[in-house]
Amino acid sequence: MTGTKGKKLGTVLVLACVLLFAVSCAGGAGGKAQEGQGGEDAAGGEPGLAEAMENLIVVGVSQVGSESVWRTANTESIQQVFTQENGYFLLFENGRQKQENQIKAMRSFISQRVDYIILSPLTESGWETVLQEAKEAGIPVILLDRKVNVLDHSLYISWIGSDFHKEGEMAGRALEEALEEKYGDSEEPVYIVVLSGTEGSSAEIGRTEGFQRVAAEHGNWVIMEQVDAEFTTAKGQEEMERLLARYSDIDVVISQNDDMAFGALEAIEEAGRTVGEDGEILMISFDATEEALKLVRDGVIAADIECNPNQGEYADQIIKKLRQGEPVAKLYFVPEEVYTKENVEEALKDRNY
Ligand code: AHR
Repeated sequence: MTGTKGKKLGTVLVLACVLLFAVSCAGGAGGKAQEGQGGEDAAGGEPGLAEAMENLIVVGVSQVGSESVWRTANTESIQQVFTQENGYFLLFENGRQKQENQIKAMRSFISQRVDYIILSPLTESGWETVLQEAKEAGIPVILLDRKVNVLDHSLYISWIGSDFHKEGEMAGRALEEALEEKYGDSEEPVYIVVLSGTEGSSAEIGRTEGFQRVAAEHGNWVIMEQVDAEFTTAKGQEEMERLLARYSDIDVVISQNDDMAFGALEAIEEAGRTVGEDGEILMISFDATEEALKLVRDGVIAADIECNPNQGEYADQIIKKLRQGEPVAKLYFVPEEVYTKENVEEALKDRNY
């Protein structure tokens, strides 16, 4: 995994230069993590610190972006684990929702000969070439959160994340219950719009397919439109305004994350429409962030399907196992729940994102 001692020292010197650059650009994408790891002493070449860095495991992380509350929590779970105290030197790059930025970050990690790469891919396609480059350089890649669509699954070591298909199905089952509670056994048409996340991402693909599977069991569920609102509040609001102007009879909004739900709620309120248990529109959301769970408690959101962002510790465990020569699984699914008014209070006690 690592090269020879001399090669590692060379890598550390390159990292020290990178660090000096990062410190001078503090506030940039990777600034926080890099500053926290070494500071100017490292660049200044203090022998003690250089030696310490020599013994650290260097991990390059290419994160999707910072589009959502969930993403921020996911980044924090990475940064809390990959610390110097835990034996790591973290290089963190924010891809700002662009695959080309993520590929550039990966290539930079490869040229710096990091020990491991953690990639949270924006979308599933387009990763073969750079993953092959990492493999040829002997750098194990761990996938976090979303998957890649590749023929050769030896291009990555393990994947850690959510069962997005199951999440989509759980949203469908939660809607069945909410409709039953509101309308009883009515077979009247139910008009649904879906605000989906980044097209081609595992979260979007799984949630869409899972929900559609349940919807297909109901002849009276009509999905009028599904639109890409990019997992952001601003786009969620913009698209919801458009949908409300276009359709006067929306019964249900499925929002594939909480941030888009917040934007949609603004739009619904501005349009003079009502949402929630006593309103005209039922809303189902994904992620189960604290703010959204409060809306579940208040009867505004009918159900929120959890997406667990605490994935950093799994990556740490995988790296430790690899270093001890122990086998690792190909897929690690994080545990997740569905929250409704019935069980939300418990979750709110310790929700910190
Ligand atoms: O891939 C996980 C999804 O990405 C989360 O649901 C969403 O909030 C994030 O941006």
